[in-house]
Amino acid sequence: MTTQKIRVAVIGASGRMGREVVKMVLEDETLQLVAAVAPSAGPVDAGLFAGKPNTGVIVSPTLEDALSHSKADVLVDFTVPSAAYGNTKTSIAFGVRPIIGTTGFTPEQIDELDELCKEKGIGGLIAPNFSIGAILMMKFAAEASKYLPHVEIIEYHGDQKLDAPSGTSIKTAELISQVRQELRQGNPKEEEVIEGARGGYYNGFRIHSVRLPGVFAQQEVVFGGYGQTLKIRHDSYDRAGYMPGVNVAIKKVMNYSGLIYGFEHMMD
Ligand SMILES: NC(=O)c1ccc[n+]([C@@H]2O[C@H](COP(=O)([O-])OP(=O)(O)OC[C@H]3O[C@@H](n4cnc5c(N)ncnc54)[C@H](O)[C@@H]3O)[C@@H](O)[C@H]2O)c1
Repeated sequence: MTTQKIRVAVIGASGRMGREVVKMVLEDETLQLVAAVAPSAGPVDAGLFAGKPNTGVIVSPTLEDALSHSKADVLVDFTVPSAAYGNTKTSIAFGVRPIIGTTGFTPEQIDELDELCKEKGIGGLIAPNFSIGAILMMKFAAEASKYLPHVEIIEYHGDQKLDAPSGTSIKTAELISQVRQELRQGNPKEEEVIEGARGGYYNGFRIHSVRLPGVFAQQEVVFGGYGQTLKIRHDSYDRAGYMPGVNVAIKKVMNYSGLIYGFEHMMD
C-alpha cells in the first residue's frame, strides 16, 4: 500500500534557509517537492537540485504561478518580512497550508491570517523559531520569570538581518508577559544619555538587539534578583538545526485548522 506524499512548495527557495528546506524535503521520501519559488530560477537550478531528482518540480519566480500549477498541500516561506504577509494570504487563498519561518508579523496580521485559515478550513503555522533548543529556552525563561520578574533579553544576529528585535525575542517577551507579575523595571528617573541605550521597551522590560558579522543566532535571557543573576542562553550554529522542526510542522499542519503562532504548540 502506498501512502500519499505531502506536496510541498517552497518560497525563498534560493535563500539560505530556503535551500536547506529544499534539501530536507528532497531527502524525506514521505514528502514531495512540487514547486520552488525564487526571483530567478538560475541559482535554484545551478546548485539546489544537484544530484537529486527534481522532475516535476515547478520552478517559478511568482508564487501565484507556482501554486496554480503545482497542487501543493503546504507552502514553506523563508523570505523577507515585507513579502511574507502577502505570501501567506496568497497561500491561504489557494487553500495551501502556510508554514511561515519569516519573522516580522504584527499581532493584528496574525489574527487576520488565523481567520482566513479558518474560513478555508486549513491549518497554518507562523513560527519565529523552529529550533527545539530555542523553544526550550523560551519555555524555561517564562518559567523563571514567575520567580525572578526582573528580566532583560539580549539577542544576537548577523548584521544583515532586516528586522529588530528578532521574532524569537518578541515571542519570548510575549511568553514571559503571560506569566510574569506586572512590573515596570528600572529607576523611574532613568534618562537615556544616548537614544536607544536601554533597548526596546516591551511590557515593563527591555529587549536589546546586537547585530554583528560573524554571528549567526543567539539569545540570552538575563534575570536579576537579590544578590544573584540567572542567564538562560541558546546558541544556533547552523541552519540545518531548524530543519527537524520544519519537517515536523509540514506533517502536523495537515491535521490542523486555523493558524498556530509558535512551533511550541506543535512540539508535544
Ligand atoms: N523561523 C526560524 O526558525 C528562522 C530561522 C532562520 C531564519 N529565519 C528567517 O527566515 C527569513 C529568511 O532568512 P534567510 O537567512 O534564508 O535569508 P536570505 O536572504 O538568505 O533568503 C531570503 C530569500 O527570499 C527571497 N526573496 C526576497 N524578496 C522576496 C519576495 N518579495 N518574494 C519572494 N521571495 C523573496 C530572496 O531571493 C532570498 O532567496 C528571515 O526573515 C529570517 O529572519 C527564521
